[in-house]
Order: sequence, then structure tokens, then C-alpha cells
Amino acid sequence: MAINRPKGTQDHLPDGSPKLSLDTRASAFAFVRETARRVLERAGAQFTDTPLFEEAELVQRGVGGSTDIVRKEMFTVYYFGDHGGFILRPEGTAGLVRSYLQNGLKQLPAPLKLWTHGPMFRAENVQKGRLRQFHQVDYEVLGSADALVDAEAIALMTEVVQALGVQKVKVKLGSIGDPEDREAYNAYLRGLFTPHLEALSDDSRDRLTRNPMRILDSKSAQDQELMGTLGVRPMLDFLGEGARAHFEQVRGYLDAWGVNYDVDPSIVRGLDYYRRTAWELHHEGVGAKSALGGGGRYDGLAQELGSKETVPGIGWAFGIERLLLALEAEGVQLPATPGPLLYVAALDEVNVGYAASVARQVRTLARAEFAYRAMKPAAAFRDAERRGARFVALIGSQEVGQGTLSLKDLQTGEQHTVVTRDLQSFLGAQQSSTSPSMQEQP
Ligand code: HAM
Repeated sequence: MAINRPKGTQDHLPDGSPKLSLDTRASAFAFVRETARRVLERAGAQFTDTPLFEEAELVQRGVGGSTDIVRKEMFTVYYFGDHGGFILRPEGTAGLVRSYLQNGLKQLPAPLKLWTHGPMFRAENVQKGRLRQFHQVDYEVLGSADALVDAEAIALMTEVVQALGVQKVKVKLGSIGDPEDREAYNAYLRGLFTPHLEALSDDSRDRLTRNPMRILDSKSAQDQELMGTLGVRPMLDFLGEGARAHFEQVRGYLDAWGVNYDVDPSIVRGLDYYRRTAWELHHEGVGAKSALGGGGRYDGLAQELGSKETVPGIGWAFGIERLLLALEAEGVQLPATPGPLLYVAALDEVNVGYAASVARQVRTLARAEFAYRAMKPAAAFRDAERRGARFVALIGSQEVGQGTLSLKDLQTGEQHTVVTRDLQSFLGAQQSSTSPSMQEQP
């Protein structure tokens, strides 16, 4: 029996594969990463990376024991002789903050802006846009509690998405206050829901003791109905003076910069480390309940992970697969992956190696491919066209003897005779006119 990939995972495929969709196209992932890199690095963010697996306790303490992620969705890593205390990371923030603390990054100029991308793992119920291995682009800023950092982070998130060509997005902005505001809100929710225990789902009865705010995030129809009839007051009503002033400052910057957002008093977020600013980025084509991305401030996380000092932090992540679904829904065309600048074929077996050496020399300049066996001219042109080549050189004994090449430009149909040792400079001059690349720079 054939072995298939695990449920909730995807293969990222080369262009031209049969059954290719945008969210399985490897070059589309590269395009998203490259675009994010350009926008974020121009804002001063540095690329960083952390392991795909971490101590389970990092996520338990960081993301929070009452979250669905920790209670139901962690993949545990086992290997011979191990205690099973590792998990595949479900998100990037806890690991990045651990890395910041462990590697003494607070000695770098603050605020320190970091970004990363990579796979994340959550054992969720699989559906469209909800995978068990998915990919995020993640941006984090450490070392500043200033509202200007929040506004910049939100603006950058929208700029990345806009640079990708996605239009129909909306930032839903809220605040979940300081810990004492949250305590007051949780007390209010306990008072509100306790008389209606029998109307709550089993999960939410459990949430009521652990973390009542989680009930607001419940997808159960039963809970939704109860909340509808009770008329739950939003967290925003419970903000203390500090959190309220911070929220207004963030809004002030966003308004001044013309960043589009709606205040959404119901934002709760699915992770426990947030405080104050919290937001999600939604798209109309991806489904009402699934966000393209989300983020927020997490000034208490470093201490939760063992730091003696407070390290203020804020960040966001978006799901690359969901972004690609949004691009697809809007019909955005990604730039085509350019084919080779040069394709070389030998007309007889004796010159196959020579043709290969001509192509190999060009590779210091650009992509160049060659045929692995001798070809008739018509077959060589067909092959070059399928690969999307710009120039084709056919090499016979005459070309080898004279040290010249006859190049056909498949874009214009023009024919050029070039001295072989001048090939690099000829192609270099032509290269500037090729279409923009969607391939990653090294
Ligand atoms: P999150 O809201 O859990 O936040 O995830 C961010 C984004 O990852 C989601 O909006 C969604 O696009 C994508 N995502 C999450 N789960 C799945 C899934 N099962 N399948 C496909 N895509 C998914 C975080 O992860 C925080 N670490 C964000 C953050 C960074 N907050 C502060 N800094």
C-alpha cells in the first residue's frame, strides 16, 4: 500500500505540478517570505530562527494552560530514552522570547525587532485553512512598552499584506487590558455565567473555573446562543486608566497614518500571554471565523518564562496558507517564476559535454540549463519553450570549431551570433530586461 502524508499537512510543490493550488505552490510560499522580508527588514527587523521543538513547559507557561492549544492541540515529541517532555512548537512567540532571554539579546539596542518564518504544529480539526502543520511569518519587538511600537507593528502587518496584493483585509483592534483589568472582567463573567451553568457547553463550564474569558472564544452554538441572550459586556468596558490611555495612543498613531482598522470590543485571542493591545487581521474570502493573522502585546511573557525583569514585547503572526487562500479568493496573479536565461542543446552526442560546460559557465550570472543528450533542433526548441527559457543555443561541431554560438531569443524571435567567450557579457546585458523574479534571494 502506498503511504500518504499525514492528515492536515501539505506538500509544497514545484510550478507546473498537476493539481497545483496556490496554497501548495512552493514558489508562492517563497514569494510571501521574500515580500515579508523586504517590508520587515526595511523597518529594521532582523531574521532569527528557533528550534521546531521546545520544552513542553515553555508552551504551557507561555501560551497558557487554559488555552485550547495547550489542552488539546500539542504534538508531543518522543524518542528512545527521552522523557517525552518536548513538543512541536504551536507558535513562534514563546520560543523567540526564550531565545531572547537565553542569548542575552537585551544587550542589543532596544526596541529589538525580530522576524522569522516557518512551520507550526497544532493538532486541530482539519478543515479549509486549518491545518496541523501550517506556516507563519512572525514579527516580534522586544524591549519597549511604547504605544508607537504597537502602531508600527500593526501598520507593518497591513503593509506586508498589501505588498502581496491582498486588498479586502480589515484590522480588528481591541485591548484586553492589564492583568488587574482582566481579573475584574473575569469576575464579572463568573457572576454572569454561574447562574446559567446548565446552558453552557462542557468545555465552557470548565473554562468558567480556569479562565472565563475563553468562553467568549467558544465556537459551540450552545455557548453562542447563551452569550447572545445574556448580552455580555465587552472587555473594553473594563479597561483601567493605563490600558485605556495606551489604546487611545495606538489609535491616534494609526489614524494619523491612515491605517484602516475597526475597533472590535470582542477581541479575546486564543493565547494567554496577551495584555493591552490585541488585534486580528481578517479577510472576507477566507471565512468569518478564520483570521489571516493576529497579534498583541505580551509584557508579562518574559517573566512567565523565568526572567527576573519585565521585558515588554509585542508582535504578530500571519498564516501563510491563509494568506495564499486570500490571494486566490481575490484572483491576485503572482509574478511568474522566470525560466532559465539560457538553454543549451548539442546536436550530436560528441558535443553534449561541451554544451553542458557552456551552460555551467553562465551559472555564475543566471540560471542556465542544458540537454542531457543530443537533440534535433525542433525537439530542443520544444524543450526550451516548456522550461520557459529566454535564449536557446544549439551546438554542433561547426560552433565548437569556430568558437561562436548562434543564440535565438525566444521572446523576440531574433537571432544573435555571439563569440563563445563573450557569452557572459552578452547575456548580462540582456538580463536586465527579464521579468521580475519571485524566487528567493540566497
Ligand atoms: P495565532 O492567532 O494563534 O497567533 O496564529 C496566527 C495566525 O496563524 C492565525 O491568524 C492563522 O492565520 C494562522 N494559523 C493558526 N492556526 C492555524 C492552523 N491550524 N492552520 C492554518 N493556519 C493557522 C499566534 O500564533 C501568535 N504567536 C501571534 C503573535 C506573535 N502574537 C504576538 N506575537
